[in-house]
Amino acid sequence: MIRLGSAGVLTGALAVMLTLAAAQGETPAVPGAPPPGGASKVPTYWNDIQPLIAARCASCHRAGGIAPFALDSYAAAAPVAGLIAQVTQARIMPPWPPGPRTPRLKYDRSLTDAQIALLADWAATGAPQGTPPVTVPPAARPEKP
Ligand code: HEC
Repeated sequence: MIRLGSAGVLTGALAVMLTLAAAQGETPAVPGAPPPGGASKVPTYWNDIQPLIAARCASCHRAGGIAPFALDSYAAAAPVAGLIAQVTQARIMPPWPPGPRTPRLKYDRSLTDAQIALLADWAATGAPQGTPPVTVPPAARPEKP
């Protein structure tokens, strides 16, 4: 009898929890967590592409850089997403000889297969921008007394 009683309490508690969860709708997304259900993630400029371009391309592809055009903003990179995918898949860019077929060298800018696939996926999904990071203005400097 005691056993049955506690099972009943547990079932009741579970039902209440489930009802609450259902009332809240979807479980709140945890920032940075993989999407529920393990659905494949669409790469976005702000999540995936901007850091990659900053690390591997923007030293040349920026205003005043040696490359003929900038890639260091969404407005600049999105229209040429398809071209970026092509030249990285062909390993034409980044134009730096160290890579999989050479000894390891310092300042190697070559891309991994995963990074090349990411750029290709981004182009194939229409170069989505995603959400820009929240920038907080710097705190005002306290006035000197
Ligand atoms: C060391 C400097 C340098 C780096 C790093 C670099 N590029 Fe370039 N890129 C160039 C130059 C210079 C050209 C122009 C080449 C030419 O006209 O022959 C160019 C051309 C291009 C083009 C145009 C190709 C075409 O056929 O018109 C694309 C697209 C490109 N780069 C993408 C990238 C991407 C993406 C990266 C990073 C993964 C990258 N580049 C990294 C210097 C660089």
